[in-house]
Amino acid sequence: MTQKTVTWNKSSWQNYTALQQPKWPDQEKFNQVIESISALPPLVFAGEIRELKKLLAKAVNGDAFLLQGGDCSEEFANCTAPNIRETLKVLLQMAVILTYAGGKPVVKVGRIAGQYAKPRSSDTEVVDGVEIPSYRGDMANSIEPAEEARIPDPERMLKGYYLSASTLNLLRAFTRGGFAALHRVHAWNQEFVKQSPMGRSYERLANQLSQALDFMETIGISTDIPQLKQAQFFTSHEALFLGYEEALTRQDSTTGDWYDCSAHMLWIGDRTRQIDGAHIEFLRGVLNPLGMKIGPKHDIDDILAIIEKLNPENEPGRISLITRFGAKGIEQYLPQLIRAMKKEGHHVVWTCDPMHANTFTATSGHKTRNFDDILAELRCFFEIHWSEGTVPGGVHFELTGNNVTECVGGARQLVDDQLSEKYLTTCDPRLNAEQSLEMAFQISEMIRR
Ligand code: TRP
Ligand code: MN
Repeated sequence: MTQKTVTWNKSSWQNYTALQQPKWPDQEKFNQVIESISALPPLVFAGEIRELKKLLAKAVNGDAFLLQGGDCSEEFANCTAPNIRETLKVLLQMAVILTYAGGKPVVKVGRIAGQYAKPRSSDTEVVDGVEIPSYRGDMANSIEPAEEARIPDPERMLKGYYLSASTLNLLRAFTRGGFAALHRVHAWNQEFVKQSPMGRSYERLANQLSQALDFMETIGISTDIPQLKQAQFFTSHEALFLGYEEALTRQDSTTGDWYDCSAHMLWIGDRTRQIDGAHIEFLRGVLNPLGMKIGPKHDIDDILAIIEKLNPENEPGRISLITRFGAKGIEQYLPQLIRAMKKEGHHVVWTCDPMHANTFTATSGHKTRNFDDILAELRCFFEIHWSEGTVPGGVHFELTGNNVTECVGGARQLVDDQLSEKYLTTCDPRLNAEQSLEMAFQISEMIRR
């Protein structure tokens, strides 16, 4: 931890302090796993990453809008075709709503195919009076509340790699193979959503879109084109376990540049973005688009310094700032941050994460979020940007396509007592499919303004 490297390489982060790493008990085994992953094919390709960066550059100016969403943390056991399909469906529905009603191309980025590592506020937790290591995501240990299950196992990184590959494979099949074709907008509306107010609003929008496509056919414009038949879809996760990220970092043979090929976009958490820390050191050298989470405890000079380091050329599309201040905090924190960034002339995609600072414990004991708080933070986000003359460029949600009961409120007015009905998350509470659609309709109006 002593010698500081000036020139970057994919291992240079090892000279810095890396927070939030699992305490792998067997270094030898860890090294073997990392070596295996390093020899395996990359999960995504540099050309795709560059494509995403171009699209995000448009979001900087307001010529596109970023929709990022998925589970708080993915679980190995949930890596099934139905789960992947349902998450994709709801993201496609939201994207269609935002594109059609909001009138802007939507950059679709899932928190998927690799979101297996979680930062924790404490190294240990007490379960039934016994202190055991904290759960750090399926790529480190098991959620099962037992000492043995919580010991980090590097083999889990290898499993995470393979499950990410499987997930990506199905996503690519769905988005390229016809499932995501705009002709199929009706098919993404799920049975349990159809009968709801939001499901019906969606049906109306889908009807309009179908009519527009039919009209084009009628007058002789072919709709058999990739713009209509395929959806552009990208993956993202928090770049947390640096050994894993390093193992998937590859040099692009066409340009000589380095990319972290574990996902298209990576984000850096609020807890691991120390200016002299290992995470910043690692990320500064890979050319992927980067998200940076910013919570209420940030220091503006610190944020500016980090941006200088991660994006010295001020390239648009490289940095998305994902602010998470809470409905109550956003007025206090966002305007100052915006002004500081404006002054420096930094090009960023301003993105709102209205989930993380609106978490509370319900009377039932469940960790939850209220739909109204989420929407309130979003509204403020748009209004503040309008009044500052900056561009609200995107949103970041924790959501699932399943019919869960994890967040209260929404059109169905889910209440505290219902949370236990289908509370499935192992980490933070997610919007269900219906709540996600409602959110998209609300946002589309703000985008169109
Ligand atoms: N190809 C465009 C895109 O990916 C349009 C499109 C096709 C689309 N299928 C979609 C948009 C599904 C939203 C959802 O944006
Ligand atoms: Mn979360």
